[in-house]
Amino acid sequence: MALTGSAPAKAILFGEHAVVYGYPAIALPLPDLRAYAEYQSSDQPLSITSDHKPPPSISSSPAVADLSDPLGAMARHTLRYFGICQARGRIHIRSHIPVASGLGSGAAVSAALGRAIAAMLGRELAKADLNALVYEVEKLHHGSPSGIDNSVVVYEKPVYFQKECRLDFLAIPTPLHLVVADTGLAALTRETVAHVRQLRANQPETANAILRQIGSIAERARSHLESGEARRLGDLMARNHRLLQALELSSPVLDRLFGAALSAGALGAKLSGGGRGGNIIALVDESTSANVERALWLAGAQQVFKSTLYGKATSP
Ligand code: PMV
Repeated sequence: MALTGSAPAKAILFGEHAVVYGYPAIALPLPDLRAYAEYQSSDQPLSITSDHKPPPSISSSPAVADLSDPLGAMARHTLRYFGICQARGRIHIRSHIPVASGLGSGAAVSAALGRAIAAMLGRELAKADLNALVYEVEKLHHGSPSGIDNSVVVYEKPVYFQKECRLDFLAIPTPLHLVVADTGLAALTRETVAHVRQLRANQPETANAILRQIGSIAERARSHLESGEARRLGDLMARNHRLLQALELSSPVLDRLFGAALSAGALGAKLSGGGRGGNIIALVDESTSANVERALWLAGAQQVFKSTLYGKATSP
């Protein structure tokens, strides 16, 4: 029987980029959009193949695996965590999450792989430990990640995240309907994060004032989210998008999708993730969802996903 690990995509609802500088951010799992890692036994040294990247493979000695390859690195870190140097078998990664699109594909694939390796070894892998392992690999993707992606993907819960603070899980008391539109344009978070770093160096007062405002929006959004005030949340999303525009993180396509969502009746919309490419998330109510979806397709979205979040906050 195949042993499978999986993990969801994620969307940042508020606070990307500002979160890198210590401000709070809110992120949500997208449980219907997932990455899977499937283990099959084999007497060959462990190899990992993937349907969305060239297949890296780890040799019989993970010590010589290419550390710059995130999948190889995740396998190596996980095996080392369990005190294992050599393993046999095949793991195949299948992911429905668009790559480099702000949906946490890298973190989801790593988390799914870590889980499949734990299952292959018949061992438990606590979420806090998996989170730390995935964070290590996120550094290869992003350079200096805040840690928000791995946290939301591993715990698969809405989170209020602030660097070096306790992770808070959020209750969503009334269903939150999201429409996510992917531009199909890949953009490297590493580069957009570097762009903001440069802006802070060149225009510290302006850039820091914008980041501060984004942080205060995320703070206010938390209470609207927990009290189910969707309309206010939507307003804050649009304001957050405009602040990201001011940081030069949007693009003509993202702005077109943003405008299309709002004109079609979305309560709010914003780019989500690193920006420049990637996706727009729109907050809708049930009556406007189909309209917004259609408008996003017509405005050039390459893929559109829907997700509804609802539920109590629970501890890890
Ligand atoms: O592009 P994504 O989905 O990996 O989101 C990155 C979020 C940033 O705040 C831009 C970077 C970070 O490390 O938090």
